[in-house]
Amino acid sequence: MQFEIFLVSASYVSNRKFAALKENLIATNKAPCTVVRLEHQGDNMFDALDFALANGAKRIVLRPIGIPFSQSLRNWVPNAAADWLTRQPVGSIDLAMAADLDEDTELLKLISNRPYRADPIMPKIDGMSGKGWDEPPTFQHHLLVCTGPRCHMRGSFGLLEPLKAAIAKAGISSKCLIASTGCLFPCNNGPVVVHYPKGDWYQLNSSQHVDEFVCDVLVNNQPSPLRLPFQPHREEQVVDGAALGEARREPSNVI
Ligand code: FES
Repeated sequence: MQFEIFLVSASYVSNRKFAALKENLIATNKAPCTVVRLEHQGDNMFDALDFALANGAKRIVLRPIGIPFSQSLRNWVPNAAADWLTRQPVGSIDLAMAADLDEDTELLKLISNRPYRADPIMPKIDGMSGKGWDEPPTFQHHLLVCTGPRCHMRGSFGLLEPLKAAIAKAGISSKCLIASTGCLFPCNNGPVVVHYPKGDWYQLNSSQHVDEFVCDVLVNNQPSPLRLPFQPHREEQVVDGAALGEARREPSNVI
């Protein structure tokens, strides 16, 4: 049986919109399939691969959707899937990745010539601005939570929601400003969270880690064994131009 996994890369799509897309794709695709996000939260590609295998798939095709699909994800996803393959019984499954949709000129022709609805846009003074967008809320802890593709794939328990829930349970939501981010660089140590103003990095691999982090670091201001040995390198940036240049260099895998 062939099983297909649609891969969606769109961090800012709401859970509701994603759920509707997933439902439509599953209802209309001829092969058994599922849909996962490559970033953010929810089931990840490894969950879907495990699911397909457990349900008797002999061949799995990864199908990127989105036009255009990220080139760096296009390069990285097959490697991540190949990594998963090494943990399966030899010869148990065929795995492949479909071509990007923008290689399909017929599809592009179809899209560009489809009838469409257009909603009118009227002049609106200050349309760029929004209520409550003038300054950050008061907070004591600023948390950058990586929801990039590699952290998402390593943290199948879903880091963001358990962290918000643990913070709420500890009664410190009003002290925490939580920002979900794209890739923060040290993907091999993911899923990562950065805690400011201290500038400390943490690897939170499970819901238990999340609870420990909230209790030790945020509530009790204690050192935690979950802290990663990264430092901000502020002084080198000031005195050493080369170090500053290095800090600005973008890794090839940043999404
Ligand atoms: S994806 Fe999280 S650090 Fe790269």
